[in-house]
Amino acid sequence: MQIDTKLPKVGTTIFSVMSQLALEHKAVNLGQGFPDFEPPQALRDSITRAMAEGKNQYAPGIGIPKLREQIALKTERLYGHKVSPDTEVTVTSGATEALFAAIAAVVRAGEEVIVFDPCYDSYEPAIDLQGAKAVHIPLTLPDFGIDWQRVRDAITPKTKMILINSPHNPSGAVLSRADLDELAAIVRDTAIVVLSDEVYEHIVFDGAQHQSVLRHPELATRSVVVSSFGKTYHCTGWKVGYAIAPKALTAEFRKVHQYLTFCTFNPAQWAFAEFLEAHPEHYLELPAFYQAKRDRFRQLLAPSRLKLLDVPGGYFQLVDYSAIRDIDDINFSEYLVREGGVAVIPLTPFYETAPETRLVRLCFAKNDATMEAAAERLCKL
Ligand SMILES: Cc1ncc(COP(=O)(O)O)c(C=O)c1O
Repeated sequence: MQIDTKLPKVGTTIFSVMSQLALEHKAVNLGQGFPDFEPPQALRDSITRAMAEGKNQYAPGIGIPKLREQIALKTERLYGHKVSPDTEVTVTSGATEALFAAIAAVVRAGEEVIVFDPCYDSYEPAIDLQGAKAVHIPLTLPDFGIDWQRVRDAITPKTKMILINSPHNPSGAVLSRADLDELAAIVRDTAIVVLSDEVYEHIVFDGAQHQSVLRHPELATRSVVVSSFGKTYHCTGWKVGYAIAPKALTAEFRKVHQYLTFCTFNPAQWAFAEFLEAHPEHYLELPAFYQAKRDRFRQLLAPSRLKLLDVPGGYFQLVDYSAIRDIDDINFSEYLVREGGVAVIPLTPFYETAPETRLVRLCFAKNDATMEAAAERLCKL
């Protein structure tokens, strides 16, 4: 039987390809974005206890009350924005589910969603599956900022959503308050919904403050804000995240969530609820924790021929390899994993139309030993 694919552009992701090559070539894997260290012991103890205490059946669809309350408390404490845990917070199976549910709840066939390239790879398939169109706007180089005039020019009567991501994967760029003001001015008096992917919300460096859309009262009334416990608590494999949106938007979001997953892994919800309450210092100290890793990694790479781009947030380092090879980034990544013994991620798969750059992404959410082993190899190139 001939299957008429709904996602003709989707193949094996670059992350799977690079991880497979890393295994084959015994390379140090700085490709896929996950920590190679463990979540806090107290969090692991909590999840084990939750299972031992029988928290093993379906959770309430929208998330256990205690976790939603903790998310609401944290949101108010950090962003000065009060949200109702009952009507505005929904626990999801990772940020990926929340992004999909938000797009499916809001965007209809024939409508348009503005995304910024390079963009996270789950956005476009979620838009395509609605029969909608992703309108790609490239971020400006070399700082990966948003050209707001291009956004104004891209708006049409079909524009239903603008999808932003700060701190940004893969560049680490962060949006400023002035950016959010520009966005607010553009969507004012329209029916455009903002979807804000803030999974790296607690990883912002050099004393800067994360400009959550939830800090911006005008934008907060028309936005779905998505975050991920996987990034904050070093447990990407647990796949727990959440979405915050005003009541009417949350009601639509929950209609999709209800039939997409219904509910999220129950023991982890109990563990996060306990841990958030007992250890708020974990997320408060996360910028310093990752800044130390960023600085160590940059110091280790300083003698190499790689040019290091600035990293204002997130846990990725972009490097320009043009002093080493004048080949495209996919070929360079393959060369690097085979000959150099380090797996990285090329940037072009994050673009609809990639610019002529010589950049690859390295993940520094790694132990010292991993960073040192990678740097030793990279410094030989
Ligand atoms: C920008 C961005 N959004 C969403 C996700 C997915 O988060 P989760 O693992 O919670 O689904 C990631 C994970 O790498 C990401 O980098």
